Amino acid sequence: MMKLGGEQAAPLDLPKPRKSLTVKNLTVAAPGDRNAILNGVSFSLNAGDGLGIIGPSASGKSTLARAITGIWQPLTPAGSVRLDGASLDQWTPESLGRHIGYLPQEVDLFAGSVADNISRFDPNATSELIVKAAEAAGVHDMLVGLPDGYQTMIGEGGVGLSAGQRQRIALARALYGDPFLVVLDEPNSNLDTAGDNALTGAIQSVRARGGIAIVIAHRPSALAAVDKVLAMARGQVAAFGSKEEVLKDVLRQPVTRAAQGQPSDAAAVQGTGTGEPSQSKGRPLAAEHSRDRRVIRPTASLRPVPSVSTPPMAASVTLDAGQLPVSVQNALAKSSCETGGVQ
Ligand SMILES: Nc1ncnc2c1ncn2[C@@H]1O[C@H](COP(=O)(O)OP(=O)(O)OP(=O)(O)O)[C@@H](O)[C@H]1O
Ligand SMILES: [Mg+2]
Repeated sequence: MMKLGGEQAAPLDLPKPRKSLTVKNLTVAAPGDRNAILNGVSFSLNAGDGLGIIGPSASGKSTLARAITGIWQPLTPAGSVRLDGASLDQWTPESLGRHIGYLPQEVDLFAGSVADNISRFDPNATSELIVKAAEAAGVHDMLVGLPDGYQTMIGEGGVGLSAGQRQRIALARALYGDPFLVVLDEPNSNLDTAGDNALTGAIQSVRARGGIAIVIAHRPSALAAVDKVLAMARGQVAAFGSKEEVLKDVLRQPVTRAAQGQPSDAAAVQGTGTGEPSQSKGRPLAAEHSRDRRVIRPTASLRPVPSVSTPPMAASVTLDAGQLPVSVQNALAKSSCETGGVQ
């Protein structure tokens, strides 16, 4: 908003968002760059929704996460990210920090205590809020087992933590203060089964309290608690809809190949010839990624959906399942069989 003299006015302190996230015609480039990484991305979510974002490496998932959280801005004025109808630039950075919890793909913890890191060094942090976030992330028991519990110093000069421990502390940080929007970028890349279960519980509780949870997933277990899926391909939305709808679409092509007596991508990569899912929850990230890269390849069949509105699913979208990591293909198949869709 502008003052009469053209001077930029400080944003008002808007009420806490509680209704929706709307992404419209979003085009995004890296800071200082004009080359778009995302092109015309549109979708919207309502309070209580859980969205899984899937897609091959470099398809723009983390870039979308950075744009949704306000870290990177839209490249063109036509694109926007809105909470309860207000574009992110209408919120103060402090309020965005309160309303959005973000777990980046590369976990960054800072020199300080575990408690400081969970509360993001909030000077008004209370023990209650910190422990609540740790419990929501399922990490409380692990933290009290550290040499100085919550006061254990980490980061430079502090105790060493495993990648999984760091990821779970960062999950607690993303949940601290019950933000309306929680964005988790591959939160389970280093988690064991207990961590996976805690993550599922955390996503469910965000949704149950009327928040919005978005989880970017290369590994299947992260999709257990979402009800919607968005598939990215080459910086665009290739599919968006309910988990079941996207599942149907994503798995269409391999089924056809199998019917023709050809091995599916999954079967070819795993060497089984059957296409049977073979992932387990605790499979290490490196194995997932090396296998993922072997099945990801562009196809001419991909037709991203129009960007102007939230697309109707299935009928208009053709997505080659070979574009998705095999782990995600299997996750979708598995979750639809096992859960019948998490609502
Ligand atoms: N800081 C940056 N500057 C320039 N280009 C970038 C930057 N970060 C990402 N990109 C480019 O944007 C594209 C999308 O990257 P992004 O990290 O969003 O992919 P991703 O889908 O999250 O991949 P992955 O599954 O491997 O995490 C890639 O081509 C990448 O090289
Ligand atoms: Mg990424």
